Amino acid sequence: MTARVAALFSGALVMVCLVALPTRAADDDSAAKYSTKDVMKKAFKGPLLKKVASGGASEAEKKELHGMLVALSKNKPKKGDAESWKKLTGALVKASEAAVKGDAKAGGMLKKAANCKACHNSHK
Ligand code: HEC
Repeated sequence: MTARVAALFSGALVMVCLVALPTRAADDDSAAKYSTKDVMKKAFKGPLLKKVASGGASEAEKKELHGMLVALSKNKPKKGDAESWKKLTGALVKASEAAVKGDAKAGGMLKKAANCKACHNSHK
């Protein structure tokens, strides 16, 4: 994905968020497909992220991880500013998308983007 497409994509995400805001209170539970806690337990602490990063995951597992990380990027962090959250989760979305596409660099991108401490320090 080129930088320009990435910029367009994150712009679109912001718009989706703005449009989704007024209805958010009514369906708070269904709005988030995976809570941040879910993603942490299933993908980060669990084996999914490691499996995809090491190249041993099936197509379905790569897609599952990508879906989780897209949901994570749309969640609101309970701490820290939105700009930083967007940057950290954006890198994860990009890396998992590369994995789905079969990009050879995806494993390295994922390992770099999944910086537990950097994100926990500002957002957990
Ligand atoms: C993009 C940001 C981000 C990254 C990267 C990240 N985390 Fe987290 N993590 C969070 C946030 C935010 C919470 C707090 C969630 C909450 O309490 O709602 C959290 C919470 C957790 C929890 C507690 C879940 C619970 O049940 O309360 C665990 C365990 C965890 N992370 C493990 C990891 C591990 C292991 C890594 C690295 C491989 C990692 N995380 C990377 C943002 C991140």
